[in-house]
Amino acid sequence: MTISPLTERLFNFSAGPAALPVSVLEQVRDDLLLLPGAGVSVLEISHRSPAFLEILEATKSCLRSLLDIPENYQLFFLQGGSRLQFSMAPMNLYRSADASADYVLTGAWGNKALEQARKVGKTHVVWDAAETSYDRIPSEEALEFSADAEYVHITSNETIHGVQLPATPPNTEAPVVCDCSSDILSRPIPIDQYGLIYACSQKNAGPAGVTMVIIRDDLLERSDANLPGYLNYREHAEANSLYNTPPTFAIYVMGLVARWLQDEVGGLANMEARNREKAALVYDVLDESHDFFRGHAQPNCRSLMNATFRLPTAECEAEFLKSAAAQGLTDLKGHRSVGGIRASIYNAMPREGVAALCSFMRDFRDRHAS
Ligand SMILES: Cc1ncc(COP(=O)(O)O)c(C=O)c1O
Repeated sequence: MTISPLTERLFNFSAGPAALPVSVLEQVRDDLLLLPGAGVSVLEISHRSPAFLEILEATKSCLRSLLDIPENYQLFFLQGGSRLQFSMAPMNLYRSADASADYVLTGAWGNKALEQARKVGKTHVVWDAAETSYDRIPSEEALEFSADAEYVHITSNETIHGVQLPATPPNTEAPVVCDCSSDILSRPIPIDQYGLIYACSQKNAGPAGVTMVIIRDDLLERSDANLPGYLNYREHAEANSLYNTPPTFAIYVMGLVARWLQDEVGGLANMEARNREKAALVYDVLDESHDFFRGHAQPNCRSLMNATFRLPTAECEAEFLKSAAAQGLTDLKGHRSVGGIRASIYNAMPREGVAALCSFMRDFRDRHAS
């Protein structure tokens, strides 16, 4: 099959910004010229207008219901991506100059979060899978948390290495802070077992430009009034995401994605079932082709969102990417820091896209395996 990229939608396996549900894109197209009731484009309305305030409330309420966010947690939207949260979390949660936080490192993003926390205060690495190139997750027994940690930081899904933690966080006295950037909304999570969750939107929740923060009320008390305003969680919670002009368009699209999850998918348990089915299709190909495709993550922590694997040689990988693109299967290149192949199969990637990838993989293997 050769497809014309200009006339047909490709199956886009990008790690983010990633594929969006087609029905959401259609709605965006329709509202772009004239948002019903507003008389102008959704891009042209004030963040304080009734039309936008309605969008903001509807988006929050749909996300609260989908994620089952308890009443004693605030949900607000920021800019600056998850990278800003790497700094904001320690800036807001450390309560004294000699405080320290625990970090569990299961991949590249946890390391980047740690790097920023080190600029704010003391840190302690509880567990680090660097020696095995981040192909595994710790057992509960392997985690010995510090008695006085301000929080424990984890990364639920390591987008680059393709390693995912269970939805239930490790058992610890300290609040768990979780970077959920690449698996938020892909499965139900017990929010009440976390202290703070942050997630940029450009994988599962919408276009780039907005970051979701979910924080337990008591942790907001830690935000020092002397922090610069934009960097203070309490300011954002009190201002209902309107401390400054928020990314209105990104919030609007995120609201449509949330509604798609609720009305068309039927909630996060259904979404997880779909994601498990899609991921199993890819991992089945890896498992039946050990000599040709080498999966990176150990089977017990394979990501449902990003399947990472290698082929026998770099030349073979380059040929794989070229042939895949010619068949309309794009953005399969692994992250520049690790190489190989990465198939990102977030919520909006349809089963037929994954099936097309698997059929291509089998065909490619049969043509290239010696
Ligand atoms: C797990 C994880 N954390 C953080 C980030 C950084 O997000 P942003 O680019 O929005 O700052 C990413 C981006 O890919 C990610 O996958």
